[in-house]
Amino acid sequence: MNEPRIYDKHIFICTNQRPENAPRPSCGEAHGIELVIAFKKAIKDKALEMPIRAQKTGCFDLCESGPMVVVYPEAVFYKNVQIEDVQEIVDEHIAGGKPVERLRYKKS
Ligand code: FES
Repeated sequence: MNEPRIYDKHIFICTNQRPENAPRPSCGEAHGIELVIAFKKAIKDKALEMPIRAQKTGCFDLCESGPMVVVYPEAVFYKNVQIEDVQEIVDEHIAGGKPVERLRYKKS
């Protein structure tokens, strides 16, 4: 028997920050925190009748494709997410249930 879900949609936004001059980029350096704020606002403004949480998280080890965002329960990984992409993800995926294919990270 499946347990009831706590959140219908759970959005994890990487905000990992590496030290200056680190050999790999980090999502925190590339507006990770601003994305968390933008997702929280877009979700609030949308006023959906379901439990949704957007939160910061650590590194997914996909740093070169960042900023990375992952949406559960579908486990859809989004790459190179910009502030202007947030509304589309909330409208199409969170509210509409259809992932935004153009932003999807695909394993090569
Ligand atoms: S720093 Fe974001 S995926 Fe590694």
